[in-house]
Amino acid sequence: MMQKIGVVGAGTMGIGLSQSLAQAGLEVVLVDISDDILARAKEEIRKSIRFSAFFNKGHSLESVDAVLTRITLTTDHHLLYDVDFLVENVTEKYEVKQAVYEIIDRICPEHCVFAVNTSCISITKLAAGTKRPDRVIGMHFMNPVMMKPTVEAIRGFHTSDKTIETAKDFLARFGKDMILVNDLPGFVSNRISHLLMNEAAFVVQDQVAQPKDVDDIFKKCFNHAMGPLETADLIGLDTVVHSLDVLYESYQDSKYRVCPLLRKMVDAGLHGRKSGRGFYDY
Ligand SMILES: NC(=O)c1ccc[n+]([C@@H]2O[C@H](COP(=O)([O-])OP(=O)(O)OC[C@H]3O[C@@H](n4cnc5c(N)ncnc54)[C@H](O)[C@@H]3O)[C@@H](O)[C@H]2O)c1
Repeated sequence: MMQKIGVVGAGTMGIGLSQSLAQAGLEVVLVDISDDILARAKEEIRKSIRFSAFFNKGHSLESVDAVLTRITLTTDHHLLYDVDFLVENVTEKYEVKQAVYEIIDRICPEHCVFAVNTSCISITKLAAGTKRPDRVIGMHFMNPVMMKPTVEAIRGFHTSDKTIETAKDFLARFGKDMILVNDLPGFVSNRISHLLMNEAAFVVQDQVAQPKDVDDIFKKCFNHAMGPLETADLIGLDTVVHSLDVLYESYQDSKYRVCPLLRKMVDAGLHGRKSGRGFYDY
């Protein structure tokens, strides 16, 4: 029975995931590279647990502190020595993720499945850097994690059927389901959605419309819940640019070239919601 879950990376996704897991009664070891990042993560989790009480009355029964006692926040990857399942959520850069897999492959128990939470990076390529490619699966969570019941799961070249079953069991523990697809960079969701967000940025760059009008056309005319630029701000513009770079590099196709305005905004520190400013101010 799965009890202890490793979560590596305490950014936007690692925070939401750790909270969801702890609220479902699982023990979490949350690892990042600095105490400052972990302190911020803990504060975000605290705020978000309080906030989630408004949406789900069941969650409000347990106190914030009780949920937090199930999350161990640490900079020491060695504390992952006894986790049953691990979700990696570090920065969307191949070299950064690959370095993490080298470390955790040595530390984690043999039975532990590695779920790669990535927007675009090939699962097969990351799995190749481990001694357990059959126990590596893509698990593209949606943001915010606690509000999205379905995950895009990705079968890498060597991912075994047993790993897929284990991943389904893991997701069921906190009320989530998966849609399984095959592995090519960007999978289904981001191979399509990043083209949309990138083109929306080009539309703003070309002064065809202001961000709000671009988003309103998708919301009011197409009935989308969110427009492409609001979505990009929510994801993090830096993460969107990293993902587009991965797609461009992977397919060698100019349709994935990053909109220069988007890259300029990232260079200027406008990373969207998480930095307080992106296409909108927060
Ligand atoms: N943001 C989204 O909406 C979203 C949605 C689905 C999937 N993803 C994917 O999830 C992953 C994480 O995205 P995010 O938005 O949380 O990124 P983020 O930039 O907010 O957080 C990444 C975290 O990883 C940490 N990190 C870097 N190297 C590390 C290491 N060696 N050990 C431990 N931690 C390390 C960083 O310090 C940072 O806190 C990415 O691959 C991204 O593509 C993001």
